[in-house]
Amino acid sequence: MTQPSSDNQQISTPTPCRVVVLISGSGSNLQALIDGQQQGTLPISIEGVISNKIDVYGLQRAEQAHIPNQAINHRDYEDRESFDAALASAIDQYQPDLVILAGFMRILTPAFTRQYQGRMLNIHPSLLPKYQGLHTHQRALDAGDTQHGVTVHFVTEELDGGPNVIQAVVPIISNDTADSLAKRVQAQEHLIYPMAVEWFASQRLVFNGQQVTLDSEILSSHGHQIHSNQT
Ligand code: GRF
Repeated sequence: MTQPSSDNQQISTPTPCRVVVLISGSGSNLQALIDGQQQGTLPISIEGVISNKIDVYGLQRAEQAHIPNQAINHRDYEDRESFDAALASAIDQYQPDLVILAGFMRILTPAFTRQYQGRMLNIHPSLLPKYQGLHTHQRALDAGDTQHGVTVHFVTEELDGGPNVIQAVVPIISNDTADSLAKRVQAQEHLIYPMAVEWFASQRLVFNGQQVTLDSEILSSHGHQIHSNQT
């Protein structure tokens, strides 16, 4: 986008990446993205927020930030295919460059994931490929792991299985419970999701269907890793 400056010179500002965020709950990751947009640290424009559950706090966060938002209740649809079709048509009205799953707790059909492959990210609270699915904090504790964490990855047909972009590694401490661990992991979520989104929005992060590159370098299978010292 090119805008005239006050002294009539032409200055060039990049068009922000158009984003739609899908949620199912409290939306703390959505809030981290809203904050990044509002503070000018994320070159994105959150065009819409869609929840598959009505009355969730994340929708209020969107409302407070004056972002168009809607609930599409999956219970109103008779199967996954019809829900995903309705979801895709709602998403496409916003013409997004990127679809962000931020605590979106629905299994998506292969047709849906194929439609957005290369432009859909998810965050999952484990060091993928460990602990796909639910109850990840308790499973890490039960296994006696010394470290746990969170992963941002591109979405493919495999649930929690697409290629990793970034992981934050969080140490497990002796008296941790699933709740105490979840809190420390969530603090990292709010750091690494905006980082991954910033990379995508500034066209540094690309998934071509085969491999993920950051600044034209192929990422390793665990993605970029950061280590939290926070206990
Ligand atoms: C996060 O822990 C995320 O990793 C998981 O669901 C939770 C969403 O939290 N997939 P919020 O709705 O962003 O607060």
